[in-house]
Amino acid sequence: MSAFLATVTAALTSAVQPFADLYAASVPLQAGTSFLHFAGLLTGGGFAIASDRMLLRAARERDGGAQRALLRELDSVHRPVLVGLAVVFVTGLMLTAADIESFIGAPSFWFKMGLITLLLANGWWLGHNAEMMRRRPDRSARYWQLLLASSVLSLLLWFAVTLAGVLLTTA
Ligand code: HEM
Repeated sequence: MSAFLATVTAALTSAVQPFADLYAASVPLQAGTSFLHFAGLLTGGGFAIASDRMLLRAARERDGGAQRALLRELDSVHRPVLVGLAVVFVTGLMLTAADIESFIGAPSFWFKMGLITLLLANGWWLGHNAEMMRRRPDRSARYWQLLLASSVLSLLLWFAVTLAGVLLTTA
């Protein structure tokens, strides 16, 4: 590890040490954090996967009215997905802080962070394609295809991030 990284790791480790000590000594805090990490995943991932499935089942839909109805349905899952993700992020930071020395140097941790970045970027792209379908009815066929592509990617990424999370427990 370079001297710079070692300095950053040491500074972060000492900054989160009080929390790491509290976490190590408290079984309820460990159980609560793990539970909320899973609960956020279940909520955010569950709603996202259900809406991806809904879009993919309607892949051959050509009727503009039916597509608009699907877009309204898509809007309604936005909030629960974001709430779930927020919970996953806060608890993810807590899990990291509890044992930062193990995670910060682990390639599997950074692999997972990379996948999460892709998941968030794809979520933005999916929303953008839905918005463009509304704004540009003249190009709706193209945005419909892009929306379906972002749904497939979203499905793959939710499972990939979950797998990366499980692999992290062996870091
Ligand atoms: C969509 C986002 C995420 C998903 C689907 C996800 C999923 C998971 C899963 C399934 C586990 C395994 C839990 C277990 O077997 O006990 C896990 C562990 C973990 N996650 Fe996440 N996670 C996400 C976001 C995050 C974020 C943003 C962070 C950090 C900033 C994070 C940090 C961790 C850590 C450190 C562990 C290992 C805990 C341990 O070894 O006990 N996660 N995650």
